[in-house]
Amino acid sequence: MTAPCSLTEIGWEEFRALPPDHKAVYLQAGAREYHVLLAQQFSRERLDALGRLATRIRRIAKADEGRRYLRDLLAGRRAMLYFTQPSSRTFLSFCAACQILGMDIGEVRDTAVSSEFKGESQEDSVRTFSSYFDLIIMRSQIGGLAERMAWVLSNTDRPVPIINAGSGKDQHPTQALLDVYTLQRSFERRGGPDGKTIVFVGDLARGRTVRSLSWLLTRYRDVTQIFVAPPELQIGEDVLGWLQQAGVQYERTNDMAACLPRADAVYMTRIQDEWDAAGESRRIPTEAFHFARRHLDLLKPDAVVMHPFPRRQEIAPDVDSDPRAVYWRQMRNGMWIRAALIASVFGKDTAIEASHVLDA
Ligand code: CP
Repeated sequence: MTAPCSLTEIGWEEFRALPPDHKAVYLQAGAREYHVLLAQQFSRERLDALGRLATRIRRIAKADEGRRYLRDLLAGRRAMLYFTQPSSRTFLSFCAACQILGMDIGEVRDTAVSSEFKGESQEDSVRTFSSYFDLIIMRSQIGGLAERMAWVLSNTDRPVPIINAGSGKDQHPTQALLDVYTLQRSFERRGGPDGKTIVFVGDLARGRTVRSLSWLLTRYRDVTQIFVAPPELQIGEDVLGWLQQAGVQYERTNDMAACLPRADAVYMTRIQDEWDAAGESRRIPTEAFHFARRHLDLLKPDAVVMHPFPRRQEIAPDVDSDPRAVYWRQMRNGMWIRAALIASVFGKDTAIEASHVLDA
């Protein structure tokens, strides 16, 4: 493990008030991430390095000898998955990533079966996990909770890294990493994500994956971001502020079909009605934001259709068989990039890069 981060040097209230890009510097351990909480932590160099590392791990894992090599890397280390908000892909891909690297896993997925049910605070719960585990991966419906826990743990005598696996409506940084990795792979022979047009569709107001990915895409040159949503669910002003600050070209519209011929990637999202106070988003007509088989005819031959999943009606199942539908590959990429991220947090990236285990 690399040296802990510098969260000991700042008070909680002062840290909390910082803009995300200023917070990021407190979360690093040298050139690597220690806590992984925000998309703003990742430079272009880090995105490229993590993508290369994920590909290296993916190739090494094709052979028995390679799988044994990877399993030895973090054998004896333990990861706690503290997921108090529902998840399939993030939870399972983190489990698989830990297993690839030989880590043992513990989990709390329901506070009704932990001592939080008896009134224990989340802070005490997380400190308890740090007594037994070397890494905490957490998902919560409370925005900013992972940040608070990272600060709390960093100021104890047993700090362990925290990875944010989805926090409230604000950030889902590791989903954004897997999305970028999918774009890197999809456009491998076309110069990567630089210069591409990404069309985001759906509930952009409350979709944390879009928020984190939109930020990561500012690390690429000449990317145009188009936000397609009903007015009530359009992208937040804070995201547009980031884009303006970064000099990124963006557009907002409610006409999906008109944007599709320009898209290199279409990023579909579901309506996040779990955040409704009283079913208000169910009253918004959203059919115009569904991707049907006929929409494939409007796409470039080398465009890709992505979705963080779970999906409802946003993409018709008969789109799945088109080679441009990459969402199943996208979710598998999550396992590789999360393995790369964990390996990097524990300082194993250089060993993997230098290893003589044969690529398959
Ligand atoms: N994309 C994503 O976060 O999926 P889960 O909610 O299933 O983890």
